[in-house]
Amino acid sequence: MVELTLPKNSRIVTGKTWPKPAGATNLRKFSIYRYNPDEEKNPRVDTYFVDMDTCGPMVLDALIKIKNEIDPTLTFRRSCREGICGSCAMNIDGINTLACIYGMDEIKGDVKIYPLPHMPVVKDLIPDLTNFYAQHAAIMPWLETYTNPPEKEWRQSIEDRKKLDGLYECVMCASCSTSCPSYWWNSDRYLGPAALLHAYRWIIDSRDEATGERLDGLDDPFKLYRCHTIMNCTNTCPKGLNPAKAIAEIKKLMVERTV
Ligand code: SF4
Ligand code: FES
Repeated sequence: MVELTLPKNSRIVTGKTWPKPAGATNLRKFSIYRYNPDEEKNPRVDTYFVDMDTCGPMVLDALIKIKNEIDPTLTFRRSCREGICGSCAMNIDGINTLACIYGMDEIKGDVKIYPLPHMPVVKDLIPDLTNFYAQHAAIMPWLETYTNPPEKEWRQSIEDRKKLDGLYECVMCASCSTSCPSYWWNSDRYLGPAALLHAYRWIIDSRDEATGERLDGLDDPFKLYRCHTIMNCTNTCPKGLNPAKAIAEIKKLMVERTV
């Protein structure tokens, strides 16, 4: 279970309980965080009931049904509906995950949905990812080369290409970074698991020629070394990736280059 941060000087209050759909016999209860910073009111938790006989199996299906049929003001991000775009990340039943690939059958009892923890909220379930994306940009998420470009393409052996497996699949959902206590308390200076996983993805790319520069940029007590191997990142990643291992590999490279 991860901890939530509230807007300053506020507390979560009980919100509205919306009427049950008429005639439904297979109901599921949803408690959903609602907050609009423009209203200057406390965040609240609204209660909705969804007829599961007419709803798809994923948490995102229920959110879309609530928005379409009960409360059009409920706000959340989504796009691909298949775990590819990373936009529907939220805290479901205490776990940071992607609503579109999280099945309702994985949840016992009522479904509790909050935004990703410890992030400013734009509205309801939408966190402000400005800092998260700036950190991603800071690790230079592109192939950096200094030699003349080849005529056709930068080639890579099958073996070297395999080193990118488990890294390139990241969908930048921010579930890992927002589950990390070090990131909660130091997100202004600690890059967090997602950005560091991407940093490692480019550091070990055999075609990249900026390894030294990349490691220099990370050699900082906060940017990298605020990782204390708590492992929340790896435990929560909805794509089954291992940011903690990527961070450990960067730390290893830091040591190796000094000996
Ligand atoms: S490593 Fe996993 S949890 Fe973290 S941003 Fe990438 S896909 Fe999301
Ligand atoms: S909607 Fe794209 S990952 Fe969920």
